[in-house]
Amino acid sequence: MVKADSCRLALPMTTSPPANPIGNIFIKSVLATFVALTLLIFLWNLQPYYDTLLLSPTTYCSSSATSISLPIKSKTTIDLNPNKRTFQAYGSAAALFVQMGAYRGGPTTFAVVGLASKPIHVFDRPSYKCEWIPNNSSNSSIQGKTYKILPDWGYGRVYTVVVVNCTFDANPNADNSGGKLMIYAYYGASSSDDKYEKFTALEETPGSYDDSNYRPPYKYEYLYCGSSLYGNLNAARMREWMAYHAWFFGSNSHFVFHDAGGVSPEVRAVLEPWIKAGRVTLQDIRGQAEYDGYYYNQFLVVNDCLHRYRHAANWTFYFDVDEYIYIPDGNASLESVLKDMSNYTQFTIEQNAMSSMLCMNDSTQHYSREWGFEKLVFRDSRRKVRRDRKYAIQAKNAYATGVHMSENVIGASLHNTHAKIRYYHYHNSITVHQELCRNFLPHSAMNATIWLDKISYVYDDNLKRLAPTIKLFDANAVGLGN
Ligand SMILES: *[C@@H]1O[C@H](CO)[C@@H](O)[C@H](O)[C@H]1NC(C)=O
Ligand SMILES: *[C@@H]1O[C@H](CO)[C@@H](O)[C@H](O)[C@H]1NC(C)=O
Ligand SMILES: *[C@@H]1O[C@H](CO)[C@@H](O)[C@H](O)[C@H]1NC(C)=O
Ligand SMILES: *[C@@H]1O[C@H](CO)[C@@H](O)[C@H](O)[C@H]1NC(C)=O
Ligand SMILES: *[C@@H]1O[C@H](CO)[C@@H](O)[C@H](O)[C@H]1NC(C)=O
Ligand SMILES: *[C@@H]1O[C@H](CO)[C@@H](O)[C@H](O)[C@H]1NC(C)=O
Ligand SMILES: *[C@@H]1O[C@H](CO)[C@@H](O)[C@H](O)[C@H]1NC(C)=O
Ligand SMILES: *[C@@H]1O[C@H](CO)[C@@H](O)[C@H](O)[C@H]1NC(C)=O
Ligand SMILES: *[C@@H]1O[C@H](CO)[C@@H](O)[C@H](O)[C@H]1NC(C)=O
Repeated sequence: MVKADSCRLALPMTTSPPANPIGNIFIKSVLATFVALTLLIFLWNLQPYYDTLLLSPTTYCSSSATSISLPIKSKTTIDLNPNKRTFQAYGSAAALFVQMGAYRGGPTTFAVVGLASKPIHVFDRPSYKCEWIPNNSSNSSIQGKTYKILPDWGYGRVYTVVVVNCTFDANPNADNSGGKLMIYAYYGASSSDDKYEKFTALEETPGSYDDSNYRPPYKYEYLYCGSSLYGNLNAARMREWMAYHAWFFGSNSHFVFHDAGGVSPEVRAVLEPWIKAGRVTLQDIRGQAEYDGYYYNQFLVVNDCLHRYRHAANWTFYFDVDEYIYIPDGNASLESVLKDMSNYTQFTIEQNAMSSMLCMNDSTQHYSREWGFEKLVFRDSRRKVRRDRKYAIQAKNAYATGVHMSENVIGASLHNTHAKIRYYHYHNSITVHQELCRNFLPHSAMNATIWLDKISYVYDDNLKRLAPTIKLFDANAVGLGN
């Protein structure tokens, strides 16, 4: 990969939204998004000001093979104006493009997923071009049509996420003689000298193209794309989550996790049997820490996973490891629910927010030995509280995606799903290492509304009642014992 090596200065950040103080895995609110978008639009309106102030004097230096950025030497021609000032640039603060993955998305289309210096996308309009160079030199290279998507809702930091969609009129490797996909990344529309970096995004070896990879039936029915795992995760909770969802999604499903530093040896030990059984793929993305994006680059990760597994499953699910998908109708199966959704490209899922410390004072239960979802049985019952959603998508119809839904899809989205599918959310439970039960309610709480800190709770043992089944499944599936 060509390292972008320009001497262009990175511009100061002005549009990053305030960091989430709670530090949870998710974006707190769609409201914040709208505020961020409004701010962005506001800043675009200010653009002429920034242009004159910051962009006009931009200087480039050559991006040739040298990898050390030297201060730009002023020209040796003697300037007679004693008041002419020079501007010395040192180093370059953010890369033009950082590729995470490049994938074929079908017979004629590709996606290149990566990061780019955010200021140039906010204050300028850098573009991309793509080209296929056939292995067989008697065929000439072909230009594709490109467009870029910035899927992180303005939440980027030094870096923003970019998905480059490159589509050809016909399969550029139709004769299967192999070839490579080149990307030209331009520095910006205002770059008068049309400066770009060129790199090989993807190669296909002769004979490797297989049309059937891009048509149903797909390998899995369900795929889980996890976002960045970080922090001091509780291995017991991870084991419970894994057992529950391996059971819930069934044997024709697959789970992809992304380790951004959260997979400790204990967590790895929990995942290992599932990895060995072929149910789990664990991606090491710790290298992302070099590139300052939003929350361990979660938007980058979900987009990489979307395109990496675009034709791997009928449905791809996006949610987190403290969340449990649930079908409220006891007579329905996941399969029957999804059959009803089959005309939709995506559907969002409403949450049941659970207390992560309220337990029942029940002397017949040994709560310290119970699983998290077995003992946390009180649900926040407030209505009219805006809560995050999670979603599932038919990835083949998506071009890019987000954390709570995708805005770049073909086809319809369904949001009125609460009667069919929900998720239980045990917020702030996944990094707790001491006992979760910190507040005990008497038995009478089972049939009452409990008020605590101005939040109303009701008893909800839907997942608790599944616990014996899940534990048995866990013991049989991975032989971990109980
Ligand atoms: C084409 O592919 C073959 C087989 O991989 C390889 O030996 C050859 O060098 C390739 N030719 C070019 C021009 O890349
Ligand atoms: C390369 O392309 C030419 C012209 O299409 C064809 O005759 C030749 O067989 C091709 N070679 C390979 C190795 O595919
Ligand atoms: C390669 O060139 C040959 C001959 O011009 C043509 O028939 C074939 O379709 C070309 N292959 C591709 C993939 O464009
Ligand atoms: C997945 O897709 C295949 C082919 O379109 C279909 O036959 C199958 O019923 C689908 N499975 C589910 C669970 O939707
Ligand atoms: C399941 O179906 C049975 C028989 O049709 C019905 O009596 C029962 O109420 C249904 N349960 C749920 C949870 O819908
Ligand atoms: C999907 O759309 C087709 C065509 O409009 C319709 O026949 C079918 O009943 C729909 N399926 C579902 C599950 O709504
Ligand atoms: C639990 O209930 C018992 C009586 O059933 C009572 O003695 C005890 O104080 C209760 N504990 C808490 C933490 O409420
Ligand atoms: C690229 O965009 C086109 C629509 O403009 C879409 O058909 C294609 O599936 C997209 N490709 C990828 C890999 O997302
Ligand atoms: C709660 O109500 C149910 C049915 O209405 C009853 O069977 C149960 O004993 C009650 N539980 C308590 C603790 O009052």
